Amino acid sequence: MSKLIDGKALAAQMREQMAVRVEKLKETGIVPGLAVVLVGEDPASRVYVSMKEKACEATGIFSDEHKLPADTTQQELLQLVDRLNNDPRIDGILVQLPLPDHIDEDCVINAISPLKDVDGFHPYSVGCLAIGNPTFRSCTPYGVMKMLESIDYDLNGKEVVVVGRSNIVGKPVALMCLEQNATVTICHSRTQNLAGHVGRADVVIAAVGRPEMIKGEWIKEGAVVIDVGINRVADKKLVGDVEFATAAEKASYITPVPGGVGPMTITMLLFNTIQSASQRVAG
Ligand code: GUN
Repeated sequence: MSKLIDGKALAAQMREQMAVRVEKLKETGIVPGLAVVLVGEDPASRVYVSMKEKACEATGIFSDEHKLPADTTQQELLQLVDRLNNDPRIDGILVQLPLPDHIDEDCVINAISPLKDVDGFHPYSVGCLAIGNPTFRSCTPYGVMKMLESIDYDLNGKEVVVVGRSNIVGKPVALMCLEQNATVTICHSRTQNLAGHVGRADVVIAAVGRPEMIKGEWIKEGAVVIDVGINRVADKKLVGDVEFATAAEKASYITPVPGGVGPMTITMLLFNTIQSASQRVAG
């Protein structure tokens, strides 16, 4: 039977430490600032944005909210991003995705200054990660790495299998594992013999967004299982991408859903914002 990696507890512990760091920065006259931009009324995005604002408040970070109507033009949004890029109170800019269809997401992400790209989505940030010289790491994969660190897991030479190749999780988490000298395989919808790949893995990172697609019986005895999926199924129940109960019988460590990777994403956003503010001090 495996041990749980409790993301909720780890996030709470990190946020306490970050609040102390913010107090120290404030003593030097710096208040870390995060601008959060939401366009439109998407209910899930509203919930995420309000969670981000509350987390900022609890940590002592200045939260600069911009809630814009759904018919905001791309040019108006780009003007706001430009203003935030030049606002000295702002250390991080987050434009909540998805954006309405009439706005080109890539164009907006590209407009964010790489110096304030605390989401780690800008091609500059992604490129720096790819060449092994990371600036801001994107928050969910960074949270996964912190979870592995929390159990003192040494990735050096280990077989990591990432299931999912999204720009937000799969690709960056693979690069982060590579940075730590793991042997990394990325599986996706066209992968043949997924069970075979998963069965070889010392660490399985599941980020496909399909409820319980990865079967517990595939997991190698003693493997570490990190489940990034959060899927709502019947009766509003939340499940991950991994069949939890059966996987927990094989794994040495496993993350639960909910209460696993989820709480780490916002935590790493705060972490990146504080890091950015610290660079303001240094610079
Ligand atoms: N939408 C869902 N997750 C995220 C995230 O991590 N960052 C942004 N900007 N939008 C999101």
